[in-house]
Amino acid sequence: MSQILAIVNQKGGVGKTTTTINLAALLAAKKKKVLLIDLDPQGNATSGFGFDKNKLERTVYDVLINQTPLGDVMVPSGRSNLSICPANIQLAGAEIELVPLVSRETCLKVALEADRAAFDYVLIDCPPSLGLLTINALTAADGIIVPIQSEYYALEGLTQLMETVTVVKRGLNRKLYVFGVVVTMFDSRTQLAHQVAGEVRRYFGDKVFRTIIPRNVRLSEAPSFGQSIMEYDPKSKGAESYDALSREVIRRSGGYYL
Ligand SMILES: Nc1ncnc2c1ncn2[C@@H]1O[C@H](COP(=O)(O)OP(=O)(O)O)[C@@H](O)[C@H]1O
Ligand SMILES: [Mg+2]
Repeated sequence: MSQILAIVNQKGGVGKTTTTINLAALLAAKKKKVLLIDLDPQGNATSGFGFDKNKLERTVYDVLINQTPLGDVMVPSGRSNLSICPANIQLAGAEIELVPLVSRETCLKVALEADRAAFDYVLIDCPPSLGLLTINALTAADGIIVPIQSEYYALEGLTQLMETVTVVKRGLNRKLYVFGVVVTMFDSRTQLAHQVAGEVRRYFGDKVFRTIIPRNVRLSEAPSFGQSIMEYDPKSKGAESYDALSREVIRRSGGYYL
């Protein structure tokens, strides 16, 4: 059974894209068939895998607005087991163009119905807002992964996020649940980081992954080379931590890996 997981937090810069890219790469490396859907008009996941955002023939915009089949938009990533449905700034228009559509919340869900069976994991990189793009992701998803930066105000906005999840559950996607919460950019030397990690655990309990993603400069360098951390620096702390996270994700979804 495939798992559709939306990587979501309306706060920008908390590690959504970094988590989506590297989780996708490490799941694919464990022979899981993965589709990464870039649902952020900034297209950072798209460029992070080495695609030129200005040279895309079709994007996720076409899936949402022109009902182009997902299969006609996704492209091989050049890595085994990993396909990408790319995005660029054109997607910014969709947030508004979706509004008058009857199926405005369910476009992505409908598009995925035909293709999800071909994948073990579909990871959706969400934009930093709770608008219609994110609602589409929450409606299409089985579960959400919430990255939380271990910094000041880490928990700010989470109540609003969970309220949005509740609204989506009520009307659009009854089975939606929190698949996991991941603490990111953790600096073990600071007292603050430990405090925040503790607060996150108090708030989310055992939803929090045991793996904590450390602050690691290699993780921030890799996208500018169009590479995942596994390609850029497989021996780095960042690579180790996302490898551990990918194992936890597989275990949590009842899967196996070698
Ligand atoms: N664990 C980490 N260590 C160091 N830098 C990181 C880490 N995770 C993310 N970054 C950097 O922080 C910035 C924001 O991360 P990003 O994944 O783009 O967040 P979001 O998608 O939530 O906006 C990026 O420049 C990214 O390279
Ligand atoms: Mg992002």
